[in-house]
Amino acid sequence: MKKTDIIAAALFTTCGIALTACGGGGGSTNSGTNNNSTNNSTKPYSGSNSQSAISGPIPIGIAFAQTSNVALLGQDGVSGVKIAEKYFNDKGGVNGTPIRLVLQDTGGDEAGAINAFQTLINKDKVVGIIGPTLSQQAFAADPFAERAKVPVVSSTNTAKGIPEIGDYISRVSSPSSVLAPNSLKTALKQNPKIKKVAVFFAQNDAFSKSETEIFQKAVKDSNLELVTVQKFQTTDTDFQTQATNALNLKPDLIIMSALVPDGGNLVRQLRELGYKGIIIGGNGMNTSNIFKVCKASCDGILIAQAYSPEHPSEINKTFRQIYQNQFKTEPPQFAAQAFTAVQVYTEALKALDSKNKINKRTLGQLRTELNKQLLTLKYDTPLGEISFTPIGEVVQKDFYVAQIKMSQDGSTGKFVFVK
Ligand code: ALA
Repeated sequence: MKKTDIIAAALFTTCGIALTACGGGGGSTNSGTNNNSTNNSTKPYSGSNSQSAISGPIPIGIAFAQTSNVALLGQDGVSGVKIAEKYFNDKGGVNGTPIRLVLQDTGGDEAGAINAFQTLINKDKVVGIIGPTLSQQAFAADPFAERAKVPVVSSTNTAKGIPEIGDYISRVSSPSSVLAPNSLKTALKQNPKIKKVAVFFAQNDAFSKSETEIFQKAVKDSNLELVTVQKFQTTDTDFQTQATNALNLKPDLIIMSALVPDGGNLVRQLRELGYKGIIIGGNGMNTSNIFKVCKASCDGILIAQAYSPEHPSEINKTFRQIYQNQFKTEPPQFAAQAFTAVQVYTEALKALDSKNKINKRTLGQLRTELNKQLLTLKYDTPLGEISFTPIGEVVQKDFYVAQIKMSQDGSTGKFVFVK
């Protein structure tokens, strides 16, 4: 069993100076930024407390960043869950009862994530939560769900130790330990002469700190020389000092663990200073929203992927088609993972309902049984077949690497799959 005695992380904000507008552009954004908005809901949820049974559409809480710089990641998730809500309800929902998403904006910091979780748990009375966007937010907010015995399925948190936060915490987002090293292998294939590696990471972000450890170990395990480790903050905009320090050491490869605005600006400044080698970006930069930050300088960035639009499963073909029709571009990883998290809840609810009707349980019982049920099933998802370990870590088979290809003027770009 997992430890449940968690001390909430100290609160400090990660939300920084807005470098880019958080809405629009990038081809994968979604216009929905309303708090507590729902999509195609029919009747409101009528339960009053966790002792009541639920009736009407089944509320699932979505706690993503829809504002702040972190919305550059959160928007892809919003697109994915909204597609899933319609897709699964069109297929009959939970044996005839629709699901209903309740969205609460977390913003970019820990306090926003805690607020969103508390509203979803106590006011919206959701059966489970998907979110929050950042691991940094999860270490602060997940313990609140754990104490309230409300399941959380994360679709983006990749830091070490997320499922270990508690019995009610699981994720469909494969951890950096299995994801990140794939991009290093691809870089070495593209340039077998790489010897000297410079690593950068955002030291105020839990995911970036976790991912850089994986990258640094992979560098050493590949017998490469780690020439420098440069640190910065997710709120930084000027990377001249760190970039110059690193470039003086003439690295053949640069690896960074960062979020979108800081990572994108760091890439741009490294290119402006004349760096021509390969750049690897981590999971916090894995969105086309980065195109508007580094523009033409984004060209060539390698990023490991837990999803490929080409995955041959039927459900992925349908998901891809719906996404393409709506956004005129390929679905990004965070949208596919968010879709998958809704699928996990819907299929687990169906399995529970088939044993004993959902409304025959109190909300409290339903949350606990749902948490147990979702950990036991196998799911055929857009990510491929997934299941969970007993502690809620995702088990997934297929991983990929994509390389960003920008138009010459930097106005458009795409992720080209290279593995
Ligand atoms: N993968 C990033 C995180 O865990 C978004 O924070």
